Amino acid sequence: MSLLITGGTGYIGSHTVVELFNDNQDVVIVDNLVNSSTNSLDRIEQITGKRPTFIEADICDKAAMRKVFTEHDISAVIHFAGLKAVGESTQIPLSYYHNNVAGTVALLEVMTEFNVKNMVFSSSATVYGESNVSPLVETMPTSATNPYGQTKLMVEHILFDLAKSDPQWSIILLRYFNPIGAHSSGLIGENPNGIPNNLLPFVSQVAVGRLAQLQVYGNDYDTLDGTGVRDYIHVVDLAIAHLKAVSALANLEGCTAINIGTGNGTSVLQIVDKFKEVSGADIPFKISPRRPGDIATVFAEAKLANTLLAWQAERNLDDMIIDTWRWQSQNPNGFE
Ligand code: NAD
Ligand code: WQD
Repeated sequence: MSLLITGGTGYIGSHTVVELFNDNQDVVIVDNLVNSSTNSLDRIEQITGKRPTFIEADICDKAAMRKVFTEHDISAVIHFAGLKAVGESTQIPLSYYHNNVAGTVALLEVMTEFNVKNMVFSSSATVYGESNVSPLVETMPTSATNPYGQTKLMVEHILFDLAKSDPQWSIILLRYFNPIGAHSSGLIGENPNGIPNNLLPFVSQVAVGRLAQLQVYGNDYDTLDGTGVRDYIHVVDLAIAHLKAVSALANLEGCTAINIGTGNGTSVLQIVDKFKEVSGADIPFKISPRRPGDIATVFAEAKLANTLLAWQAERNLDDMIIDTWRWQSQNPNGFE
C-alpha cells in the first residue's frame, strides 16, 4: 500500500516525503509543478537514498487521477496540492477557486470511486479570520478575509459535510500556523517564485544579498515591540505531524480539525534579530505601513494535537532560523 501525496514536490510536501521514507512508508507523488520542480525529487533521493514515484498531473484532471488510483494501491491521501499566495488570490480568484476547491472536489470524487476514504488535508490558521483572540482553539468560529482563505474554509466545509454523509470517511484537517525552516541537510527548503510574500523567505534573501531591504509592516501593533506576532513552526515538525495524522486516521471517526503550531508567538523584530545573530549578515530594514489584512497577534493553542496525535513541536526558534539559513546560504538561488 502507498500514500498518495498531492503537491509532494513542494515545500511542505517534500519534507513530509522525507519523514515518510524515514518511517519506511511507500509514497506516490502527484504534482503539476506549477510551484515546484523535480529538483526536489533528486534532493529527497540524496537525503533518504530512495526516489519517490512521481506522476506529473493536475488534481483537476480526473482521467489522470483515475490512472494513478488504478496503477497504485493507495491507502490514504495527504493533500497538499493548491495555490497559496494570499495577494495573488485577490488578483486571480478564479484560479484559486478552481485549483483549491474544484481540484479538491475532483480528487474526492475519484477517491470515492476507488473507495479510498482517508485524507489528511492542509488547512491553515487563516480560517480563524480576524476576530478571534489568540491562543486560537479549534472550536472557535471560522471565517475568511481573502480568496485564498475562502478556499481553505470552503474545503473544510466540504470535508466536514462529506464525513457526515458517509461514516467510512476519516479526515484530518491540519491547520498550520506559520511553517518555516528547512531540512537539517540544507538540501530541501522553501523556494518561492519571484519576490517572496512571507517573512522568512524575504529575510533570508536579504541576508544572502538577493534583496536589498526588508519592509517591516507596521510597528504600532499592540504587541511587545509593536510588530506582528506569529506562531512559527519548523517544517520538519510539521512534516512529522502528517506522519502521526496518517496513523491516527484509523482511530478517528469523521472529520477533525487540529492546530499545528508551537503555542508560542514571535515578533517580526525578534525574527530579524535572531536571523542576524545566526547568519552574521546585516539585515537592513525599514518600518513601513501595516499590510492590509494583517492582524497583530496569531498563535495556536496546541493541546489537541498532543492529545489526538501524540505530537508536539520539538524544534525551537534557533533550530528554525539555523536551518533556514543553512538552506538559503547553501542554495542562494533555491533549486536553480
Ligand atoms: P507549495 O506551493 O510549495 O506546494 C504546493 C504544491 O502543489 C506545489 O508543488 C504545486 O506545484 C502543487 N500544485 C498546485 N496546484 C496543483 C494542482 N492543481 N495539481 C497538482 N499539483 C498542484 O506550498 P506549501 O507551502 O508546501 O503548501 C502546501 C499546502 O499547505 C498548500 O495547500 C498550502 O495552502 C497549505 N498551507 C501552507 C502554508 C505555508 O505558509 N506554507 C500555511 C498553511 C497552509
Ligand atoms: C508574518 C509577519 C507580517 C513580510 C501567511 C498567510 C497564511 C499562511 C501563512 C497559508 C506578519 C510581517 C511579512 C514582510 C513583514 N499561509 N511581514 N514584512 O501573514 O502570518 O500568514 O502565511 O495558509 O494564510 O496569510 O505570514 O510570513 O506573510 O507574515 O513585516 O516582508 O511578518 O506583517 O506580521 P502571515 P507572513
